[in-house]
Amino acid sequence: MEGSFHASPTRVLSLWTLLLGCCNIAGLRPTPSVTAESLDIGKVSAVSGGDATLPCDTRSTQASDTLLLVVWYKNDVPLYSFDTRNKGPTAHWADDVLGGRARWHSATPSSLRIRDVIPTDRAMYRCRVDFKISPTRNHRILLDVIELPEKPKIFDEFDKEVVGVAGPYIEDTSLKLTCVVSGGKPMPRIRWWRDDKVIATLAPVDDESRLSLLELRIPKLSRDFFEAVYTCTADNTVLVPPLRVNVQIQIYLRPLFVEILAREQPLSVGQAAELACKAVGARPPAVITWWMDDRQMSVAAIQKNSDDKNETVSFLRWTPRMDQDGRTLTCRAAHVKLEHTTIETSVTLNLHYVPIVTLQLGSKMNPNDIEEGDDVYFECMVRSNPPAYKVVWEHNGQIMTHNQRAGVIAGSANLALQGVNRSQAGKYACTASNVEGDGKSLPVNLQVIYKPVCLANAVAIVGAALNEPTKVTCEVDAFPPPKNFQWTLNNSMGTSEIEPEKFILNGVGRSVLFYTPASEKDYGSLACRATNLAGQQVEPCRYSLLPAVRPDPLANCSAVNLTDDSAEIRCVSGYDGGLQTSYFVEVWESKILVANVSTALPAWILRGLGSGKSLRLVFYAANARGRSETVVMRINTLTRLALHTEAKSGKTVGVDASWALGVIAGIAGTLVAIVVIALVARRRQHPPMQYEAPMQTVKAYKGTIQSTNHSPVQPDDKNPDVVPLGKDFNSARDLERPPEPPPYGAVMSPPVGSSRSSNSLHHHDMRPVTPHTPITPASDGHSIGTLAEDRRSVTSGTFSRRREVVTTRTPLLANARESCV
Ligand SMILES: *[C@@H]1O[C@H](CO)[C@@H](O)[C@H](O)[C@H]1NC(C)=O
Ligand SMILES: *[C@@H]1O[C@H](CO)[C@@H](O)[C@H](O)[C@H]1NC(C)=O
Ligand SMILES: *[C@@H]1O[C@H](CO)[C@@H](O)[C@H](O)[C@H]1NC(C)=O
Ligand SMILES: *[C@@H]1O[C@H](CO)[C@@H](O)[C@H](O)[C@H]1NC(C)=O
Ligand SMILES: *[C@@H]1O[C@H](CO)[C@@H](O)[C@H](O)[C@H]1NC(C)=O
Ligand SMILES: *[C@@H]1O[C@H](CO)[C@@H](O)[C@H](O)[C@H]1NC(C)=O
Repeated sequence: MEGSFHASPTRVLSLWTLLLGCCNIAGLRPTPSVTAESLDIGKVSAVSGGDATLPCDTRSTQASDTLLLVVWYKNDVPLYSFDTRNKGPTAHWADDVLGGRARWHSATPSSLRIRDVIPTDRAMYRCRVDFKISPTRNHRILLDVIELPEKPKIFDEFDKEVVGVAGPYIEDTSLKLTCVVSGGKPMPRIRWWRDDKVIATLAPVDDESRLSLLELRIPKLSRDFFEAVYTCTADNTVLVPPLRVNVQIQIYLRPLFVEILAREQPLSVGQAAELACKAVGARPPAVITWWMDDRQMSVAAIQKNSDDKNETVSFLRWTPRMDQDGRTLTCRAAHVKLEHTTIETSVTLNLHYVPIVTLQLGSKMNPNDIEEGDDVYFECMVRSNPPAYKVVWEHNGQIMTHNQRAGVIAGSANLALQGVNRSQAGKYACTASNVEGDGKSLPVNLQVIYKPVCLANAVAIVGAALNEPTKVTCEVDAFPPPKNFQWTLNNSMGTSEIEPEKFILNGVGRSVLFYTPASEKDYGSLACRATNLAGQQVEPCRYSLLPAVRPDPLANCSAVNLTDDSAEIRCVSGYDGGLQTSYFVEVWESKILVANVSTALPAWILRGLGSGKSLRLVFYAANARGRSETVVMRINTLTRLALHTEAKSGKTVGVDASWALGVIAGIAGTLVAIVVIALVARRRQHPPMQYEAPMQTVKAYKGTIQSTNHSPVQPDDKNPDVVPLGKDFNSARDLERPPEPPPYGAVMSPPVGSSRSSNSLHHHDMRPVTPHTPITPASDGHSIGTLAEDRRSVTSGTFSRRREVVTTRTPLLANARESCV
């Protein structure tokens, strides 16, 4: 894995012998003998520019001896002397060659020290020592001056100097760096290091050249060399540390792998989701892009690098759409600089979504041609992920249930309706559900066509006067609505079709015939038949066209809700003679006509009749041709007591404690009243003429004591005591004498339809109303409502004495009574 290293062929071998290790220690040793002196050669090394110390032992072997003179020679030329006989500065002499750089130091160990050593100082030095007694001694010292090389420089394969960082190189290419060192004496040793390990060395070769080169070659820059730091050192002495220069290798690394990080949740259509994609190994960090079926997604993604920049993660925030289900989502990691190194990974999108439901009528069915009795099929097509767990069918918004007996077969994909009828027409929908939600189809309208059917199920009787235009309306139910009608007349002459000009289509499913009988033979039986897509009406609508006559008499008259003051009467009308008919009731009390009312319908509400009356009601119908025969009915309005009893038995709910008190008070009041009546009857000359008092009760009697002009509420009435009843009664009696005769009258609904007898004796609440004014059904209903209110007030009166008194006092004063209760 390491590169191989070669010494440069250009190397010039000018090798200096490294004079490592200092031999001058020998010089410091005492010279054993005089004869040995000339052999004793010391060696001293000094770095150019530094200091050199040339030792010279000046001690004598004889104790009494003294040093006289020390002389230094360079290549046998005197250079420096130290004369002990001269005192002061004159003791030292130096040749100018030294330039003042040398100085003798006498202190042991004595030596000559040279500053700022220069290459020319390299020479053989001799130190001559003269003593007073001992013989002269000589020491030889070889001074070697070491010249340091220049700082190494690194060059790349293009001979460009590399400073600090080499590259960037492309992964897996080769690298060649050359460390060049110039100068140095002796020639330096050059080494390449990776971290603390020497990986190449160039031994010094003295070949007279000035340059040393050592190459670093890496044939294949793998990932292991990423940001590796190499150092080139040069040294030619141990006196100073090696010169060094560092270089860091920069490499473009292709992405190693890319992966889409798994999600816990499945992706759902329409819900924002985040996907992450990780690319590893690229330097500089990879650029991650997202692609949907080879089209780059326009959504912005956020990219994050790990601290060591080895991993890059891109977050894609996007909302999946339905159409992206099953498509391929790709994450691509590309290198900014390196082409063809892009790597990618893909996932096939599996999107969850609310079921997509479409409903259609069975493919073999013609939606415009479904007749009653046909079997109908619907197909519910569900697209769903995850699969739907249920399908629900709806008809006109109502959930349908499987009902084989009724011919409704509801499955998850199909709905079968066996033998449809018209009521099954309408809007159908199916709803499929999965965990994402419920998906409902658009409604599909089921049309069921059926032949026209007559809306009226009885034969209508139409009365028409000779030469009078008459309208006959034929209405049918059909789908689709019929366009064609056919009218026929069946009479003694046979059956004949009526010309189409005589009838028109008037609205949906309605034909109107304009018919004018010109003679007796124009009467007969009319039939109307409609035809639509489904066919012709089977059973025609039938009409009996009869000559207009006076109406039939009323029948089955009955009183419903008979009260002490009112009666609700209903009769059944017969044939109206073919003309507009009014219905009359005359209310007679013996020979007196109390009311005479006409209405458009044979139903009346008679009010203000008074209690305990025996009345004769005479009914008839009348049209332009005349009156029907009359029908007579007798009714008796209820007496108060009867009503009282009825109310007690019929109404038990909501009675509070005052109820019992009221009953007791009522009984007591009755007893008191009987006594009073007896007294009054004895005193009275003329009892009310018109009052027969069929039930001689207090209440009936009270009914006769009528006042129209005083307040119905007496202050004493508030006291639920028995005594005040008598008092009240007496005072009332006194006030009311002579009393007004008991009022009679028929009160119809106030706005319309009521009339009163011309000989009615009392008119407190009677309003003059034009006879023959028909009551509209609405006003009729209103009257019934008012009747109910009155009834309630009377009934409640039975529960307390006070109310009883008030209501009985003013039986006809509807307004006054209402204000009191
Ligand atoms: C980058 O990550 C990959 C995979 O974990 C690993 O093999 C590789 O050594 C890493 N490279 C660096 C420079 O950390
Ligand atoms: C139509 O069919 C439904 C269900 O079968 C049934 O309930 C309904 O009574 C039918 N209506 C008519 C008018 O026949
Ligand atoms: C016509 O009326 C006669 C007698 O009422 C009846 O017998 C005949 O069937 C009717 N014809 C049609 C077509 O209604
Ligand atoms: C009258 O009532 C009787 C018996 O309830 C009934 O038979 C008859 O058909 C009714 N008449 C009318 C015209 O409704
Ligand atoms: C009732 O009124 C009608 C129509 O106004 C009238 O013809 C009829 O004679 C009246 N009845 C009596 C008994 O007056
Ligand atoms: C009598 O009148 C009351 C109140 O208006 C009503 O609820 C009830 O049905 C009526 N009875 C009849 C038989 O019409």
